[in-house]
Amino acid sequence: MLFLFLLDKRRGLQRCQTPVPGHPSMATQMFEGKGHAAVYQKYRFEPGKELQQTILTYLQEKRTNPAELVVDVGCGTGQGTRFLAEHFKKVVGTDISEAQIQEAKDSHPPPNVSYLACPAEELPFEDASVDVLTSFTAAHWFDIENFMREANRVMKPGGCVVLSTYTVDMSLRYGNCSEKLTKVFRETWDMLLKYSHSRIKHVLEDYKEIFEALPFPDKKRITDIFDKIPMTVAGVVGYMESASPYQVFLKNDPKAAKSVLQETEKRMLETMGISSPETPVEFWVRHVCVLGCK
Ligand SMILES: C[S@@+](CC[C@H](N)C(=O)[O-])C[C@H]1O[C@@H](n2cnc3c(N)ncnc32)[C@H](O)[C@@H]1O
Repeated sequence: MLFLFLLDKRRGLQRCQTPVPGHPSMATQMFEGKGHAAVYQKYRFEPGKELQQTILTYLQEKRTNPAELVVDVGCGTGQGTRFLAEHFKKVVGTDISEAQIQEAKDSHPPPNVSYLACPAEELPFEDASVDVLTSFTAAHWFDIENFMREANRVMKPGGCVVLSTYTVDMSLRYGNCSEKLTKVFRETWDMLLKYSHSRIKHVLEDYKEIFEALPFPDKKRITDIFDKIPMTVAGVVGYMESASPYQVFLKNDPKAAKSVLQETEKRMLETMGISSPETPVEFWVRHVCVLGCK
């Protein structure tokens, strides 16, 4: 069953191969649109409490605080950067997409946060200048080899790297219809995953290859971090809209893509026996986190 599920995904993945695999400019194409960046800002959530705690505990164990400089690579519109800003003196969010960085800047960041557009493989920081380098749900888009070399260059000795992603293991909970509701969500989600970029294989493999590529001997990979994200029905549908496979589908066939989301929202409301898309629902996600120290 699991094999068929993965096989089905791989077939879908092949359809979306892009011309020059591995080149950073390809990855940004997935997130470059202004419309996509706005949807991203609206619907993408911050790292959940369990993930936050896992990261903070690790960094405390490794005594990286007080850290002078924390860099959040592939920051998007700042979901992880905002969390870091609550705990560290100076945080710089970087992303290859100008549109994402503009949205992040427009969101009135706190004074200890700045944003800049640059590729993960060419970070504009001095050698051995960064205390903590993070990446939330983004490392799978990078050219892994070049990113790891660059991370190694900019990290201070004793500095830590945190690379996390949420996985495709997601479920919904609402009253006594959680199972049915999750089924509705998964049907749409599995269909959308057929439009996934080939790099999503890193997520499907729980960042195994990314973990192996991290050039520090002191490292670990945690694959069972579960978080409950408070959402609404509209938020769950918006999350699907913000996903890169949906954006590919939207470009290929806008009418069909929009209709799939409308239908999904309708089915979710029917299953829950309610009429308001603003009704709260619990969104459960499993995170994977790769942690390492230089
Ligand atoms: C799925 S989003 C994650 C955004 C945010 N960190 C979050 O947690 O929601 C991935 C981000 O990685 C960025 N990205 C993709 N390839 C990149 C690269 N080579 N260098 C820097 N950023 C990149 C994209 O522009 C996008 O904003």
